[in-house]
Amino acid sequence: MISPRADRLDTTTLNQDVAAHYDDLDKWYRVVWGEHVHHGLWRTGKESRAEAVRGLTTYLADALAIQPGENVADVGCGYGGTARILATDYRAEVDGYTLSERQHDYATAQLNGASNPRYHLMNWFENKLANDSFDAAISIESSEHFEDKGAMIAEMYRVLKPGGRIGVYTWLSSPAPTDWQVRHLLEPICSEGRLPGLGDESEYRDWMVGAGFVDVTFEELSHQVRKTMPLIVGRMMLRLTWDVSGWRHLLLGPNKVFAKTIVRITTAYYTGAMQYGMLTAKKPE
Ligand SMILES: C[S@@+](CC[C@H](N)C(=O)[O-])C[C@H]1O[C@@H](n2cnc3c(N)ncnc32)[C@H](O)[C@@H]1O
Repeated sequence: MISPRADRLDTTTLNQDVAAHYDDLDKWYRVVWGEHVHHGLWRTGKESRAEAVRGLTTYLADALAIQPGENVADVGCGYGGTARILATDYRAEVDGYTLSERQHDYATAQLNGASNPRYHLMNWFENKLANDSFDAAISIESSEHFEDKGAMIAEMYRVLKPGGRIGVYTWLSSPAPTDWQVRHLLEPICSEGRLPGLGDESEYRDWMVGAGFVDVTFEELSHQVRKTMPLIVGRMMLRLTWDVSGWRHLLLGPNKVFAKTIVRITTAYYTGAMQYGMLTAKKPE
């Protein structure tokens, strides 16, 4: 696993730092990313950005065959966009978890009194869900923030019913990055993005099998998602043509490396240092 240098990320305050990262950059995430803080999936290459972003969610929901009435836990739900799609289009009952108060406020404001999805401002490890109670558990680009990814996956296993499905989209380190890629791309991406580690495909498989899951599948989707970051840079630049306070925030704020990180991530995809993957698996019947 690729980890940031110890002097660059203090993991004892990790959850507070992750929450502060998303709270501080709330405006940017909502303006530039929108309701979904994740990559888009260009399966034909012709999709608009909005279609690609939605397509990433539905690709996972279809892979897990989410059915009406099923209970789904969304670990690291961000602004709740995925949970809303699962609740409306798939008619699932969804519980989403985030550490960020701003994300939680936004997500709950979209409910307009509806009781589904339910959003929890809570560390995933503090969920009070009963054993064997959910049909599916998903994590879209949130496992990167967990120091102990095996424990996060084991907690997903615990709450799933026998036969329940897990689906994870994650940024991955390539199996054998060069020293240059580690030093100049992967380690800084970890520390700048509050990621205590980037696993590779085989580590995620091991964490799933170690938790007890069977039928683990993996699909590498780097080429289908890598247009995301250049588009994000474009949207950010467009905004900065008139938003003076935005410049100040990006250049002087606590997350001033944000723009630099996006360039590193793009370079990491195009040089093969980083991969993007979808893993699914099942809890035995
Ligand atoms: C990149 S965002 C992804 C958000 C969402 N899945 C989406 O695709 O829009 C990462 C999310 O993981 C959440 N997260 C990270 N660590 C967490 C933890 N220990 N418990 C709950 N949520 C966590 C953050 O609060 C944030 O909402």
